[in-house]
Amino acid sequence: MTIAVLGATGMVGSRVINEAAARGHRVLALSRKPASADPADPDVTPIAVDAQDPHAVREALTGSASTGAVDAVVLTLRTAPVDEEFLVGATRTVLDIAARLGIRVLVVGGAGALRSPDDRELLIADNPAYVPAEVKDVAAAGIAQLRTCRAHGGADWVYLSPPALLLPGERTGRYRRGTDTLLTTAGGRSWISAEDLAAAVLDELETPGPEHHITVVHHDEARRPEGGAS
Ligand SMILES: NC(=O)c1ccc[n+]([C@@H]2O[C@H](COP(=O)([O-])OP(=O)(O)OC[C@H]3O[C@@H](n4cnc5c(N)ncnc54)[C@H](OP(=O)(O)O)[C@@H]3O)[C@@H](O)[C@H]2O)c1
Repeated sequence: MTIAVLGATGMVGSRVINEAAARGHRVLALSRKPASADPADPDVTPIAVDAQDPHAVREALTGSASTGAVDAVVLTLRTAPVDEEFLVGATRTVLDIAARLGIRVLVVGGAGALRSPDDRELLIADNPAYVPAEVKDVAAAGIAQLRTCRAHGGADWVYLSPPALLLPGERTGRYRRGTDTLLTTAGGRSWISAEDLAAAVLDELETPGPEHHITVVHHDEARRPEGGAS
């Protein structure tokens, strides 16, 4: 596949690129300040794109003679401080363009959009056990991003909510997959390494599941997989 990653230089985006390249896919690495190309990896093409510029996004997602048509785009943007209007606008732009070009969209969003494991009526964003008041705006932006996907008529999209904690770490290549409810390990922690999240992103792109909202968690030996990849 040819996979575009918008947010290429970020914690998640850079790992998605490594995982995709290691699996032999061609990658378009999109961000405002692209990392310099690794000459050892001709399959990764850095391209300067501002997600607020629909023309630039469309041009990048159209692909070129050397990269071929883009099959999928991974949207993994973050700003500090959080900017909900930017996130929603950029997501809509990518969905619009992807729908026209027939490109699948995978959004790496937030855990806040998930349901609480002990109370399905309570979103994680509204659960102070997971989301303290000072990061509620980040969680709300993730929910607005998911709503934008749901409201979009034409695009083929999937929204991947990380677990509560997502940190750089080890790639085990294993994880537990769920849908719209926060997952925890046997020890009660909700976490995954960014490397394993990237493996889940590539698994989902290579073998798309039927759900529009999915989540993953670190795989621990103490708990048996509940279906799906592990
Ligand atoms: N537990 C959780 O729910 C959890 C935890 C961590 C992350 N996340 C989510 O995971 C996703 C990725 O987060 P991250 O930690 O990887 O973020 P990050 O490290 O801050 O990276 C953000 C990326 O966005 C790019 N970017 C920002 N503004 C842009 C613009 N206008 N145009 C193009 N690119 C732009 C940045 O590149 P440039 O600056 O070069 O443009 C960078 O590549 C986000 O949706 C975040 O909310 C969720």
